[in-house]
Amino acid sequence: AAAAAVVVHRKTKKSGRWVKAMEILKEFEEKCGTPIPKLKQVADAMIVEMHAGLASEGGSKLKMLISYVDHLPTGREKGLFYALDLGGTNFRVLRVQLGGKGRGIVNQQFEEVSIPPSLMTGSSDALFDYIAAELAKFVAQEGSDFKQSPGRQRELGFTFSFPVMQSSIASGTLLRWTKGFSIDDMVGQDVVAELAKAMERHGLDMRIAALVNDTVGTLAGGRYNNNDVDASVILGTGSNAAYVERAHAIPKWHGLLPKSGEMVINMEWGNFRSSHLPLSDYDHALDTESLNPGEQIYEKVIAGMYLGEIVRRVLCRMAEEAAFFGDTVPPKLEEPFILGTPIMSAMHQDTSPDLKVVASNLKDILEISNTSLKMRKVIVELCNIVATRGARLSAAGVLGVLKKMGRDTIKGGEKQKTVIAMDGGLYEHYTEYRECLENTLNELVGEEVSRTIEIEHSNDGSGIGAALLAASHSQYLETDES
Ligand code: GLC
Repeated sequence: AAAAAVVVHRKTKKSGRWVKAMEILKEFEEKCGTPIPKLKQVADAMIVEMHAGLASEGGSKLKMLISYVDHLPTGREKGLFYALDLGGTNFRVLRVQLGGKGRGIVNQQFEEVSIPPSLMTGSSDALFDYIAAELAKFVAQEGSDFKQSPGRQRELGFTFSFPVMQSSIASGTLLRWTKGFSIDDMVGQDVVAELAKAMERHGLDMRIAALVNDTVGTLAGGRYNNNDVDASVILGTGSNAAYVERAHAIPKWHGLLPKSGEMVINMEWGNFRSSHLPLSDYDHALDTESLNPGEQIYEKVIAGMYLGEIVRRVLCRMAEEAAFFGDTVPPKLEEPFILGTPIMSAMHQDTSPDLKVVASNLKDILEISNTSLKMRKVIVELCNIVATRGARLSAAGVLGVLKKMGRDTIKGGEKQKTVIAMDGGLYEHYTEYRECLENTLNELVGEEVSRTIEIEHSNDGSGIGAALLAASHSQYLETDES
C-alpha cells in the first residue's frame, strides 16, 4: 500500500506540473491574440502615426525619414557600380555591371562577410576599418569581365540599415542604433563621412554616391524589375518598411518640390508602438533587458532577432514554475538569445511524426534530452503562437501602408496594381511566418482588393538597389537613352 501511495503521489505531482505548464501556455496565448478587428485597429493606429511623423520632425515615434530618393531606377542605368550593405550580423559587398536600357544587370559578383560580435558594440573606427579593409580586398579582385570607363573614379551605394537623418542623398547622421548594435561614438555622426575616412585610411579611392536604408534599397531594386513596386518591407533581424509618398503630403519637407512629385519615405516602423499591440509580460521583460529599452517595440514582437528569444522566455518560466523539464531548470535555457529564430523555425516546421527535429535542437542547443512527444508538441505550439502573432501584426503594418497609399480599395473600377517588394531572412526562410502574413493580409483587404496586391520576394534587392541609386546619382550620370 505504501508503494502504491508513492506512485499516486508522483503522478499527481507530475500532472499538477503539467496543468501548471499548460496554464502558463494558455495565459500567454490569450495575451497574444490578434483577431481581425484588433489588426485593423493596429493598422489605423499606424496611419495616425504616419501622418504625425510626416507632419513634423519628432512628431511621432514613427520617424518617417526622408530618403532624398525622389526618382526610382528606370532601367536605363549604365556602368559599373559597387555597393556595401551593412545592417545585420553580416555585411555584403557587391559590384554590378549595369547594361542600360533593355539590358539590365549584365554581370554581378558579391561577397558576404560576417561581423565579429565584438565590433557591433566597440568603436566606430574599429567597425569601419574592418569594413573598409574587406571592401578594399574585394575591389582589388575586380576582373576584366567588369568594365569601367577609363579615368573614372569608382562609385558606391551604401546601404546602412539603421535610422539615419539624411541631409542629402549621400549624407546623414545616425539617430540611434537598433538590433544588436551599440557603438556610442557613432550616434550623431555622419555615417558617410565615417566610411569615407576609413576608406581613405585603406587607400581606397571611391566616391560614396548614395546612402540608403535597406528598405529604400529594396524598393529601388524591386522597381528596377517591376514597375508596379511602390513599397517595400524588410523582415529579417529587424523589420521596417518604405514606400513612395506624394511630396506635397509631407508637411515637414521644406525643400524644393521634386520633379517627380514623389519622395521615398523610410518609415522606421520598427519603432511603432500602440496600446493595441498585444504585449505580454515576456515582451515587457525582453524590452527592459534589451540594448534599447522602450524602443523598437513593434520590431520586438515581429522581427527575427526577437521571436526565438520570446519562445525561450516562455519556456524558461514553464521550467521554473511548472518544472516542465524536470526538477531543475536547464542551465542553457537561461542564456539570453541562445534560442535563435532559425532554430525556432526549424522546430515549428518539424513534420516528422515523432518531432525529431524538435528533439535534436533541444538536445544540441539547450542540452535538454529525454523530452516526451507530448512536451515537444507543446513546444511546437508555443513557436506557433509567437510566429502567428508576429506574422499577423506585420500584415497589419502592411495594411496600414496600403491604406496610407490609398491602395486598400478599388477606386472607380480601376484596378491599380500594387507590388510590395519584401526581403529578409525571416520572410525568406520561415515559411509558416510568410504564409501566415500573406493569408492575413488577404483576409484584411478582402478578396477583390487582394487580387490587385502582390508581394514579391526581392532577393538581395537592398544591395543592388543601392548600386542602382549610386548609378542614378553618379557624378558622371551616364544613362542610356537610346
Ligand atoms: C531596424 C533598423 C531599420 C532597418 C530594419 C531592417 O529596424 O532600424 O533601419 O531597415 O532594422 O533591417
